[in-house]
Amino acid sequence: MSDAARSRSKATLPLPAPSDRFDVPRHVAIIMDGNGRWAAARGLPRVEGHRRGVEALRRTVRAAADLGISVLTIFSFSSENWSRPLAEINDLLGLLRRFIRNDLADLHRSNVRVRIIGERDDLDRDILLLLQEAEDLTRGNDGLTLVVAFNYGARQEIAHAARRVAIEVAQGRLAVDDVSAELLARYFHAPDIPDPDVIIRTSGEQRLSNFLLWQAAYSELVFVPINWPDFDRAALEGVIAEYRRRERRFGGLIAQTGS
Ligand code: FPP
Repeated sequence: MSDAARSRSKATLPLPAPSDRFDVPRHVAIIMDGNGRWAAARGLPRVEGHRRGVEALRRTVRAAADLGISVLTIFSFSSENWSRPLAEINDLLGLLRRFIRNDLADLHRSNVRVRIIGERDDLDRDILLLLQEAEDLTRGNDGLTLVVAFNYGARQEIAHAARRVAIEVAQGRLAVDDVSAELLARYFHAPDIPDPDVIIRTSGEQRLSNFLLWQAAYSELVFVPINWPDFDRAALEGVIAEYRRRERRFGGLIAQTGS
């Protein structure tokens, strides 16, 4: 075929469907960092940074759903965050309560399914009930899944799974030889959720801080140099563009083309 004929036949090819045109990650997980620095840079109290962080979260949930992402996991409160000053802990818990009370109906209307990961023992009863309400109300939704990591720590999740497997072995329901990586992962908080394709951390810090350590084995890590309250749709699109430039090999070799 001549060059001219080739370019004519290319021009008449039908446009690919949107899902083929835009290679979006299925699962995006976010460490929403930098709320305190955002506030300090403006001479504002830290809680104002967290408040603006909730607005960034709302924008990001909308953008993720629009862009066709299936699962969005957010690190809202870590097992280690209990070591912050009590006033800040109360601010963060207050924001979570308000987020669920004010935004749950909207999320439900938008067909978002809410899931919670993290330890639930020892949580205040009202928080526990709110988390359960969010999961129960949205259980039947099949749009974006919003996984809220609350009181979450990856080492704790792995230790908890190991403890449950040990009990199964001790009680004779599993044999030692049954224990594999795949089996252990079935005892995690949300074993049916696929591993994240991309983990984003805002604020320029470059570490995982006990977030999804097991599930991150083959995730692309993208560190964004802006504080979380400034994160928006354009920033998410930038991350997706970066993700598409990465070559994912999962321990294998680069896909070969040609013979
Ligand atoms: C990190 O900023 C952020 C957090 C510890 C919590 C993130 C929480 C929110 C966005 C709001 C509450 C969440 C929900 C789901 C309603 P930082 O305080 O560590 O910031 P710094 O490192 O600049 O001090």
